Amino acid sequence: MHKDCERIMLTEQELRSRVKEVARQVDERYAGKTPLIVGILKGSIIFYSDFIRELTCPVELDFMAVSSYGSGAVSSGKLKIKKDLDKGVLGRDVIVVEDIIDSGFTLANLKALLLERGAASVVIVTLLNKAARREYDIVPDYNCFDIENEFVVGYGLDYNERYRNLPYIGILKRSVYEK
Ligand code: IMP
Ligand code: MG
Repeated sequence: MHKDCERIMLTEQELRSRVKEVARQVDERYAGKTPLIVGILKGSIIFYSDFIRELTCPVELDFMAVSSYGSGAVSSGKLKIKKDLDKGVLGRDVIVVEDIIDSGFTLANLKALLLERGAASVVIVTLLNKAARREYDIVPDYNCFDIENEFVVGYGLDYNERYRNLPYIGILKRSVYEK
């Protein structure tokens, strides 16, 4: 385990089997359709790549980069689009893939934006859900794990751009961000 982690919350094994299970549920729903899978950069990349490989329906891939957080662990309260989609979403069945839903600010805003742009449907798939932290009215359609209010890193998730490549989800030691 990385020295900055307090403990491992979800092992590689646990992540692999649950992501598979959720992806199969999503897959059933899209039989006969070609969804556009929108990954939210950068936190979702590892989850995204594991998730899409379990889908059997034809898919198209695209990415957006948004920020609601600055560099640290506290929300700045403003959604900024740093990279937009390559193509429009008019009439498309969109699946948004996100690493974690915390206050819900990012996904509430993003879902509203995609619907406003004319998406036929917007389904939200998250790896982690901190339900106790919710401030905005949004519930993921599919979520892999409900977690407590702890700051976690790994499997794509970062603190100050670090730790994304850890293969597990670990709880970051408080001493790392409370310096
Ligand atoms: P929300 O807009 O408050 O729902 O925040 C969602 C975003 O906050 C996620 O996409 C993450 O980038 C970030 N975030 C929230 N909690 C954590 C955490 O425990 N570890 C790493 N990033 C987090
Ligand atoms: Mg993120």
